[in-house]
Amino acid sequence: MLFKQQALLRQKLFVLGSLAIGSLLYLVARVGSLDRLQPICPIDGRFGPHGQDEIPLRALQFKRGLLHEFRKGNATKEQIRLHNLVQQLPKAIIIGVRKGGTRALLEMLNLHPAVVKASQEIHFFDNDENYAKGIEWYRKKMPFSYPHQITIEKSPAYFITEEVPERIYKMNSSIKLLIIVREPTTRAISDYTQVLEGKERKNKTYYKFEKLAIDPTTCEVNTKYKAVRTSIYTKHLERWLKYFPIEQFHIVDGDRLITEPLPELQLVEKFLNLPSRISQYNLYFNATRGFYCLRFNIVFNKCLAGSKGRIHPEVDPSVITKLRKFFHPFNQKFYQITGRTFNWP
Ligand code: A3P
Repeated sequence: MLFKQQALLRQKLFVLGSLAIGSLLYLVARVGSLDRLQPICPIDGRFGPHGQDEIPLRALQFKRGLLHEFRKGNATKEQIRLHNLVQQLPKAIIIGVRKGGTRALLEMLNLHPAVVKASQEIHFFDNDENYAKGIEWYRKKMPFSYPHQITIEKSPAYFITEEVPERIYKMNSSIKLLIIVREPTTRAISDYTQVLEGKERKNKTYYKFEKLAIDPTTCEVNTKYKAVRTSIYTKHLERWLKYFPIEQFHIVDGDRLITEPLPELQLVEKFLNLPSRISQYNLYFNATRGFYCLRFNIVFNKCLAGSKGRIHPEVDPSVITKLRKFFHPFNQKFYQITGRTFNWP
């Protein structure tokens, strides 16, 4: 009996000891990796819409903790009143382009202490049913924020949907509009890959990209194929320019956001009149993912979901050449209108 108890005690001690050693090893590893990090993100500086407000540090902690809870609808009325929280209409919208890197852009901007993101794509302006629910419905979909913070939402379908520019204009004619673009052929293949994956998930078969992108009767580029049409950026932008001057748009280079995100984010900070707060500390390259991931602080970091960064199927090089030739004149026009030139072939 006594022997059994002693054995049990030894077992317990062994488990506890292992746990303690494990925790210690984890801490050592953590500190080791911290040594290699760059200086702590300067998050407690002065800034605000007029340059004189100061965001209390409390606000920043809030943003990651309580605000997250509130977004899930758990805020009590008392908490909202106490912290002066509001649900604000967006001051900036990422209107597209689908597969341009819209999620990465939104998540990375959300690293900025003055930015609060709407987590879901709201599809207010492109979906008639949602639009009919009215602007208050839209506002109520927004996360809680401090009055000096700006809310950003992204719904990439806005860029290509006919009715959207007028509807957004009616809400706020001075809103800032962000468009993230990628080399058009790559974007079209990425678009195809997403649809293909959806079909495969449902055990359905699907056409090859080549078959969709090239009209088999004419052997020309099939402009009826949505993935091709979406990549004719200039056509869509021209519709937007009937409502908003070009100064209200900022074009983000989605290809560079993948390889070198910080300078792209700094350009957006400038466009949004925000002080530069996102630093290299906030972005680290994750070799396993093959992408930059986000670091909010010592304990909280995250990579985008696996659905971002899919492996594209191989596409016949002659089809790629044909598509690139097709997009070329539209790209030239796009550079001309936006004043931003890309090295697209
Ligand atoms: P691929 O899946 O073709 O690689 P969107 O969010 O608009 O759907 O865009 C998805 C694209 O974002 C992905 O396309 C991916 O290349 C790109 N992207 C940019 N930065 C990324 C990041 N840090 N992590 C994952 N994907 C990123």
